Amino acid sequence: MTERETWATRAGFILAAVGSAVGLGNIWQFPFKTAQFGGASFLIVYIIAALGIGLPAILAEFVIGRKANLNTISAFEKLGYKEWRVVGAIGLFTGFWILSYYSVVGGWVLRYIGGSLTGAYFAAPAEYFGQVSAGMDALALHAVFMALVVGIVAAGIEDGIEKATKLMVPSIVVILGVLAAFAFTLPGASAGYAYFLSPDFNVLAENFAEIVPFAVGQAFFSLSLGMGAMITYASYIDGDQSLFGDGITIVFLNSFVGILAGLVVLPLLFAQGIDPNTSGAGAVFISVAGAFGDIPGGQIIGLVFFAVVLIAALSSAISLLEVVVSWAIDNYDVSRPQMAVGLGGVIFLLGVPSAIDTAWLGWFDTLAYQLLLPLSVLGILVFAAWVYGAPAIDELMKGSGLGDGVGLTWLWLVRTLVIVAVVATLALGLQTLFLGESPAIVPPL
Ligand code: PHE
Repeated sequence: MTERETWATRAGFILAAVGSAVGLGNIWQFPFKTAQFGGASFLIVYIIAALGIGLPAILAEFVIGRKANLNTISAFEKLGYKEWRVVGAIGLFTGFWILSYYSVVGGWVLRYIGGSLTGAYFAAPAEYFGQVSAGMDALALHAVFMALVVGIVAAGIEDGIEKATKLMVPSIVVILGVLAAFAFTLPGASAGYAYFLSPDFNVLAENFAEIVPFAVGQAFFSLSLGMGAMITYASYIDGDQSLFGDGITIVFLNSFVGILAGLVVLPLLFAQGIDPNTSGAGAVFISVAGAFGDIPGGQIIGLVFFAVVLIAALSSAISLLEVVVSWAIDNYDVSRPQMAVGLGGVIFLLGVPSAIDTAWLGWFDTLAYQLLLPLSVLGILVFAAWVYGAPAIDELMKGSGLGDGVGLTWLWLVRTLVIVAVVATLALGLQTLFLGESPAIVPPL
């Protein structure tokens, strides 16, 4: 078997991980939920959740990945806990499952890039979305998106994912920055900033019980946790860099891009007098798209906006395919390109129902978000902190120059608060699943 690949540089790993984290969740869900849940006051809760819960959790995945240098299933065996492979398997399955419909949405984005150029959705954004989001069109573009993902992953860690994300992540930040500056110049934009950023502690106080688990769940999804993605990416690290430092950088950049996206979409909507009180698919593909129809140069702005959404979605999707490809090539004597094509094909097929009918997409998403994700995160955390324990601290502290106290704090934080937060998220998810409320990432269309 050929030697296992590694990242060429530390920055390469960080950018790939940020690329995974920054995705539809940031541009799509984060700004709208922030606005609805109390603006700046929600932002504070989210940042506490991301740093207090998300960061310790991402570090747990990094520790497992780097220590084992193996894919998300075999890693547990390598660390000496063969029976815990089931946790890795749940994560792998979750990634597989999520990518199947994430790619369908990626296909919509492709369609909207074309639609911006021709102005196809300008006149009737809602009808347009209804037409292109399901059926043969959606299926064909789901195939194209998946082919792009396969192309990058087939090229390998250093030549594929690292090179691509090194270009993609800075582009996302720069383009969103330019769009935010443009949005700032629109008359009426200031109402958008007020909506997005003014603290409303009443909203927060009244909905606290719902908001906190939501913020935690959002932090997990947004940081790509519970899908083996971060374990897999960390398994390609070759060196003793501080995982702690990398984790903080990734969490910071991820939140930063979410805020930047908010500074683009909300001023844009307010400037056009469009009600921002929707979230998910309708928000980006109907409301935001609708706004482009009414502003000067809307075709170009729309094109650039959907291009950035595409880049963000692609850089996330590759991390999901890599989870399965990594497992396959670690365990079987097959080439990376063959596996990327084969597994990409299977995931494409799994996504067919979601492409044909958005109700399926909603169902796939609900199951992933409410059940698979929190379950998988819980398994990983219990393993890292309660089962693996002390060696995890050693791995975490390598190259950090920090005292043992930091490692112990991390361990006990994960053992207690973080696990309790995940259990609460899971409980809420199950309740939503069985008592039937709206799905989280892709709300009813
Ligand atoms: N973190 C991505 C987002 O915010 C979603 C994602 C989840 C990507 C899991 C990869 C793995 O959209």
